[in-house]
Amino acid sequence: MDTDCCQIEKSGADTFFLYGDLCHAPVIGRLDIHASSYLLCKNGQCAGIFKTVPPEFASVPVLDYGGCLIMPGMVDLHIHASQFAYRGTGMDCELLDWLARFAFPEESRYADPDYAAGAYGIFAEQMRKSATTRAVIFGTIHREATLLLMDLMEKTGIVSYVGKVNMDRDAPPALREPAADLSAFDTFGFVNAAAKRNYRRTKPILTPRFIPCCSDSLLSELSEVRRTYDLPVQSHLSENPGEVELVKKLMPDARFYGDGYDRYGLFGNESRTVMAHCVYSSDEEIRRLLKNGVWVAHCPNSNMNLASGIAPVRRYLDLGMRVGLGSDVAGGQTESMFRAVTDAIQISKLYWRHIDSGARPLTFPESFYMATRGGGSFFGKVGSFADGFAFDALVLDDAVMPTPREFTVEQRLERAFYLGLDQLGIRAKFADGRMIYQH
Ligand code: GUN
Ligand code: FE
Repeated sequence: MDTDCCQIEKSGADTFFLYGDLCHAPVIGRLDIHASSYLLCKNGQCAGIFKTVPPEFASVPVLDYGGCLIMPGMVDLHIHASQFAYRGTGMDCELLDWLARFAFPEESRYADPDYAAGAYGIFAEQMRKSATTRAVIFGTIHREATLLLMDLMEKTGIVSYVGKVNMDRDAPPALREPAADLSAFDTFGFVNAAAKRNYRRTKPILTPRFIPCCSDSLLSELSEVRRTYDLPVQSHLSENPGEVELVKKLMPDARFYGDGYDRYGLFGNESRTVMAHCVYSSDEEIRRLLKNGVWVAHCPNSNMNLASGIAPVRRYLDLGMRVGLGSDVAGGQTESMFRAVTDAIQISKLYWRHIDSGARPLTFPESFYMATRGGGSFFGKVGSFADGFAFDALVLDDAVMPTPREFTVEQRLERAFYLGLDQLGIRAKFADGRMIYQH
């Protein structure tokens, strides 16, 4: 039976143990496994891993998931809620055609509150059942629909940033805001309205779609909005060859694509920023991403579907850049972050074999890290079970995938990702110390 998060919130203890096979990756490249152990949640935070319950905690309730895998919740650094309805269709084009033929017509529908309510209701319900506990989400240009999306995300218990999209050019009239100042004005209204709703886990994020859809005057207006509210920023960067060429034409004086955002203070430093893709980032752009501390949302499934290419993730990791994973629905066909983890590994093997024999393929522990701690760092102390980290956890019962073989916990974890155990049903999900889903 599904359990409503609000009911649990009312009745649940804020200090409890989860018991099971604990798996996390506090540092990149190494899994930390604690078989048959207790993870303490205290005031919403991880507060220790124990082999037996210490005497001082003898009265603390234990949620017994013996035999199950317990891991940090998945962090989706890049997903378009407004494209969820048509995922899995229109996959035979590249980015710019795909936007014109599929994404923009779909997003135009969100001017209709009834359509938005239906479509976002389905999205939120799917997210609730997914392995994701944190997400950074694109809505559309529509203020009311995006606020509705925030209402629905808040109810899921997932912690998220949600953006009203800004775009004032290179889109059909229905999806082009009539002027830069009106787009900014509407964004002020959006942020103010969100503040009045007193969400606990849902926050606004500034969302200029990408340079082709944002004039210089819009970016300039948005830099004001960002400063006023100290908003984080999300956008797209260097995703596809056609897009990169278009940006060169539209912003000829920018040193590189990302410089087009940076000149308006929308590229890291004091603005916490996540840029999706970074497949074609030049050396200079990579240096700026690193220097400004921009998070890269690597979206392998989308990059394959839209034939965008393969991001040089090994290089980003070697440089110590901040890298997480994104589903990028509906460029990506699924919200499954388990799929993102295995896609990232598999695509890196093709990159190594065909493009750069010096770029070692990603390993499972590395990709698992990107989906948890890598993306989680955008939210703060999120993505591992280390003391003081937000208590986000996912419980999975791999007995639903029978095998006559015996496996170590590490092997069971890897198998759960490759076989898509998240699609077979999550046993329970916790975010910020509260159970938000159980089945
Ligand atoms: N670039 C600008 N908009 C989009 C979008 O909706 N999806 C993807 N994958 N890239 C984009
Ligand atoms: Fe995207």
